[in-house]
Amino acid sequence: MGYGSGFGKVILFNEHFVVHGIPAIVSAISMSTTATAERIKGDFEFIDDRMATPGYKDEKMDHQRDSLKYIFQAMDLEQDNVKIRLAGDLYAASGVGASAASCAAIARALSDEFDLNYADDEINRVAYEGERGYHGSPSGIDNTAATFGGLIWFQKGETNVMERMNLREPVNIVMGNTGVVANTKAAVAGVQERKESFPEKYDKIFRSAEELAHRGRDAIKAFDLPKIGKLMDENHGLLQDIEVSNDDLDLLVNLAREQGATGAKMTGGGLGGYMVALTPEKEVQESVASAIEKKGFKVLRTQIGI
Ligand code: MEV
Repeated sequence: MGYGSGFGKVILFNEHFVVHGIPAIVSAISMSTTATAERIKGDFEFIDDRMATPGYKDEKMDHQRDSLKYIFQAMDLEQDNVKIRLAGDLYAASGVGASAASCAAIARALSDEFDLNYADDEINRVAYEGERGYHGSPSGIDNTAATFGGLIWFQKGETNVMERMNLREPVNIVMGNTGVVANTKAAVAGVQERKESFPEKYDKIFRSAEELAHRGRDAIKAFDLPKIGKLMDENHGLLQDIEVSNDDLDLLVNLAREQGATGAKMTGGGLGGYMVALTPEKEVQESVASAIEKKGFKVLRTQIGI
């Protein structure tokens, strides 16, 4: 039986902008998806044992089916006579890189089962193909984080730029789940449409996002946590301006700030899914997490820069 895994992720700066070539910064989190691949006799079998936001698996069923097709095609393998099983401690939900983590895990499990010895670059290429099933035309940031882990500066281009970054030490975060299963493809398409309809307004916002990415990189290099938090707050404002946040995300972001988070923003595709709060001190992490839980939402207590 072949085995593989892929990291969950949190985008610290510039989701959505990254689709249009603006640099972004992403960190893997400690939770991951695991996959096994087994040769069997008969039709393709797929078992999904991941914990998930209610409704996530049903809503993503068509995307998942396309994604599996693209993965097998990219690896030049027949889907029949194979059984895939997903598990792991990464919650399957929007905004935490669940789809990319599953694609990387499946690619690794298949490579293992069929003795293909894929290197990480190959796994990343296949995971990108798998991501197309979910996003249509993804930037590549999620599969890159899912495959390589760590903290990454990413810029989409003719050749993507991927630069490993270092955080002096891991920093606590809280990720709050709105419980809303979001359609990333639709969110990305919405930004594209509005960008075309309001070019001047969007150009200005995109320029601010680009500048913010560079300031974020400097703040991370300097391990300036208050600055990182402030830039996360600013980034949330830009994401609100391009209309990918929503009331639940804004509520959780404000709640986290009230509880003393150093910074907070939505993360991932938006319109639901997750937000992230930077909470370096353990007590603040706990008070942000429990305030969100008290409102009836689920949280992850995890770290960036691991
Ligand atoms: C989703 O996690 C991140 C987006 O920027 C889409 C992408 O980069 O492909 C919204």
